[in-house]
Order: sequence, then C-alpha cells, then structure tokens
Amino acid sequence: MATGPATWDYRDAHHGRFGRTYFRRYGDGLVSSLGLGTYLGAPTDAVDERYLEAITTALESGCNVLDTAINYRCQRSERVVGQALRESDVERDAVFVSTKGGFVPFDGDRPSNPGRYVAREYVDSGIVDREDLVAGSHSLAPDFLADQLERSLENLGTTPDLYYVHNPETQLREHSREEVYDALEAAFVLLEERAAAGDIGHYGVATWEAFRVPPEHPSYLSLPAVVERARSASREAGTAGTHFRAIQVPFNVVMADAFTVDAHETPDGPTCALWFAANAGLNVFTSASIAQGELTEDGAIPGPVAARLEGETPTQRAITFARSAPGVTASLVGMANAEHVTANLEACTHDPLGAQAFDAVFE
Ligand SMILES: NC(=O)c1ccc[n+]([C@@H]2O[C@H](COP(=O)([O-])OP(=O)(O)OC[C@H]3O[C@@H](n4cnc5c(N)ncnc54)[C@H](OP(=O)(O)O)[C@@H]3O)[C@@H](O)[C@H]2O)c1
Repeated sequence: MATGPATWDYRDAHHGRFGRTYFRRYGDGLVSSLGLGTYLGAPTDAVDERYLEAITTALESGCNVLDTAINYRCQRSERVVGQALRESDVERDAVFVSTKGGFVPFDGDRPSNPGRYVAREYVDSGIVDREDLVAGSHSLAPDFLADQLERSLENLGTTPDLYYVHNPETQLREHSREEVYDALEAAFVLLEERAAAGDIGHYGVATWEAFRVPPEHPSYLSLPAVVERARSASREAGTAGTHFRAIQVPFNVVMADAFTVDAHETPDGPTCALWFAANAGLNVFTSASIAQGELTEDGAIPGPVAARLEGETPTQRAITFARSAPGVTASLVGMANAEHVTANLEACTHDPLGAQAFDAVFE
C-alpha cells in the first residue's frame, strides 16, 4: 500500500515541474491530482501492451494514482495494473491504487453467452444468489464482494489502497432506496473488517449518477445517508472509526452536476456532492474527466469557459477544469496511450483555477 513517507519522496522527486497544488493530501500521504484510469479499450493483448506502456510512463513521470475495477476489460485492466507495478522501477508504496467490485466480471474475454457464463460461474457455483443479482450482472451481497476482493488481490498482486463499491445505484433498478442503504451497510461491514485486517487500505463508493442527480431522480443516493451507514458499519464491525474514505463521481466541463446540483442535506441546507464530500473529510476522485474523449475536440469546451482555463489544447484545458473543482483530490483520465500520458501531464504544469475563478466559470 501507499505510505506517507514514500509518497512524500515521490512528490519531492517530481513536484518541481508541475503547477500549484499538483500533489494533494490523501491521509498522511500525497497523490498526484492527475490519475490514470483503465476503463476503456478492448479486452485484447494489444490493448494490454498499450496500457502497460502508458502506466509505466505515468509512474515514471509524476502520476502516482492508478484506478481500475475488476470488471474493466474482463479483468485485464486489474492484471495489467498489477504487472506494471511489479515491473516499474517506482516502488509500490509510492503509488495509490484503487479498484472496485459490484459488477460480475468476465475473465479475459467476453463470453459468447454472457448470461450462461454468469449462471455457471457465479450462480450455480453458489458465489451469488440469483435474487441478489440486479440486471443479471450487479450485486452488493457481502459474500459476493468477498469473492471479488480475493480475485482483485490475485489480479493486482498487491493490496489496493482504496476499494470502491461500484455504482451501487444499479441496485435501485430493482430495490427501494432503503433496501439499497441496508445492502450498502452490509457491504460496508465486510469492508470495515477487511480494512481492519489489512486486506484493503480504505473503502469508498464509486458512482455514475447517484451523487450528482437531484433527490427525486430514480438513481439518487444521499451522501449523508451513505456516510451514516458507514459509521453504523464501523460500530457493527467494531473498528475504531470508519474506513470510509472517498467517493468517485463523473465530473467535467459538460457534466458538472457534482458541483452544480445541491442534492445532499446539511444542517445549513442542501449542498452539492463536491462540497459535501470536502466538508465530510472525504477524498474525491473525478471520473470521465475529459468526457470519455469528447472534450479532446476543438470547440467542445464553450468559448467563454475555455478562455478562462490554462492549457495549450482542449484536452489540457478540460483537465485544468476538472482539477480545479473544490475538494477534488485527483481527476482520473483514461489513458491507454503513453503519448496521451505525456500530453496530459503537461496540462498539470499549469496552475488550477483558484476558488473565485472556478466559481466565475458558472456565472
Ligand atoms: N464508476 C464509474 O462508473 C466510472 C465510469 C467511468 C470511468 N470511471 C473511471 O474514471 C476513469 C476516467 O474515465 P474514462 O476513461 O471513462 O473517460 P475519460 O478519462 O474522460 O476519457 C478517456 C478517453 O480519452 C482518451 N484520451 C486521453 N487523453 C487524451 C489526449 N491527450 N488526447 C486525445 N484523447 C485522449 C483516451 O484514449 P486512450 O485510452 O487511447 O489514451 C480514452 O479514450 C476511467 O478510466 C475509470 O478508471 C469510473
């Protein structure tokens, strides 16, 4: 796992070439505010090779945040992250690694009949009850997540610093909100225990819609309610304080709801996901920080917004925007191309916007 001293040494070796606040606090350590994501790409050897080169370049060049999930590219992304960590000259304890569980993963490639694969490998084998599967592919059942964590540990070959429950709002397709909070609490008890045992550093919740949509939306989950469930789970598991540490939300120039939608209750009235997380002491990792490639195109960022952002290219300006939002620890950008790593790290030689300048973008 990442340690304070090793990540501070990593920062000392790299921070000179970057702009203000490039390295940010995570626990007693420091992480780069650009992280490498591994979601996109075909499940092939050729894409594995490209990721290996991209991750190696990232680690050597000042990016020490790697994000993956067991289901990404049929477990190949976790495996290539593990390979890169083993082969890199950068020490493991200088790197922050996150992964996720919740979606039933395939193994190496996409089976010709996914439904039959899930039934044979997961339901018939007793790993997951059919009634615990939503949309035939997603579960928060503790026994299932325990199985998934074992596989992730094997794939990565190392302990993840952060283990996310992956897109729990998927459960809202077939369950009430209260039932989903109950399922999350049961999952959190497992993750509290596994964190206390040293099998993960901390845990979090990665979402696509849940925390950025308004409360009346069918995919909404309340961050205060989730934090409360984590506290209950900690009491149930007997851990000294919760290991719930972070959230992941999509955030970019054209999908800024995590900042603009006041969906989470506080004693002072509702606030947005980013401010709620910041005030609750949670780290925030943004996903889809360049809108899955959309913001790389000329003209994709509205002119008046682009004019306020530092960076030579639309991609660089989009990265500056995501890294400038309040409470953001790191913006994840999917990079299976070493040239993209180099170009995107160049964006971070620019300073992020200050708080007032960021707010002004929305005026
Ligand atoms: N919890 C969730 O539901 C969720 C959802 C989405 C994403 N995530 C996480 O967040 C990470 C980031 O999101 P994302 O990958 O979906 O989207 P993204 O980071 O917004 O975009 C990634 C895409 O942009 C391309 N790209 C990167 N840098 C570029 C550059 N300089 N010029 C041109 N193209 C460039 C990448 O190509 P190459 O790959 O060829 O470099 C890739 O196709 C994911 O990888 C994943 O780890 C989580």
